[in-house]
Amino acid sequence: MNAQNKKSRVLVKFSGEALAGGNGFGVDIKILQYIAQEIKLLAQNDIEICIVIGGGNIIRGVSASEGGIIRRTSGDYMGMLATVINAVAMQEALEHCGVDVRVQSAIEIQEICETYIHRRAIRHIQKGRVVIFAAGTGNPFFTTDTAATLRAIEIEADVIVKATKVDGIYNKDPNKFDDAVRFDSLSYDQALKDDIKVMDDTSIALAKDNRLPIIVCNMFKPGNLLDIIKYNRGIYSIVK
Ligand code: GTP
Repeated sequence: MNAQNKKSRVLVKFSGEALAGGNGFGVDIKILQYIAQEIKLLAQNDIEICIVIGGGNIIRGVSASEGGIIRRTSGDYMGMLATVINAVAMQEALEHCGVDVRVQSAIEIQEICETYIHRRAIRHIQKGRVVIFAAGTGNPFFTTDTAATLRAIEIEADVIVKATKVDGIYNKDPNKFDDAVRFDSLSYDQALKDDIKVMDDTSIALAKDNRLPIIVCNMFKPGNLLDIIKYNRGIYSIVK
């Protein structure tokens, strides 16, 4: 809870790849269940939650277009559809563990889920529902990180949490370099200037313009999201 005794509102961004688990492709049900439990823990602790999931476990727009056959625009639309698949999977996993949830898509696909309507999303959140935003921003050339940042700003989230495999932002790849150093905190300008690949520049610039803090943390440590969001403890990096 923040100072005004208002509930914390967060947007959690998961990569599509995370959902694939060891398979490297598709949706690993065990990981889906694990994430659903982590989200349930947040919901049980009076945190208002929205979610964006990437689509890289199914297709990535940029990679699909690399051979020159599929145009980037089409590749990106394919990627947006991939995020709808992940959103529907996550909706099922959350419902399965008793969490009330709605999916809203930036592209009309009414037989499958609701269309994104800002005021309706807010009502869902106020009623204690988790809202999953699917289909990115609905536009090619924008990443799901940018979509997550945009939605976080629109719903007036206190923070965007980028849930990753690592526990923060390092000056170099911690998997390759033993002497990699993790930043506790860094400014938007530093993240942009040093080309820190935590999110693309569009996302960081949007967050900067709207003073939206970005937390980067490890999603695979059970209870970590709650520890960080509710108790401000644990290991993470923050861009602010
Ligand atoms: P309240 O108005 O607060 O009761 O919200 P609600 O979401 O429960 O009511 P609504 O009648 O809008 O939705 C009932 C169910 O239908 C929910 O699971 C929605 O996600 C789903 N739903 C609503 N609109 C659409 C839509 O356009 N397409 C699809 N596929 N499902 C929808």
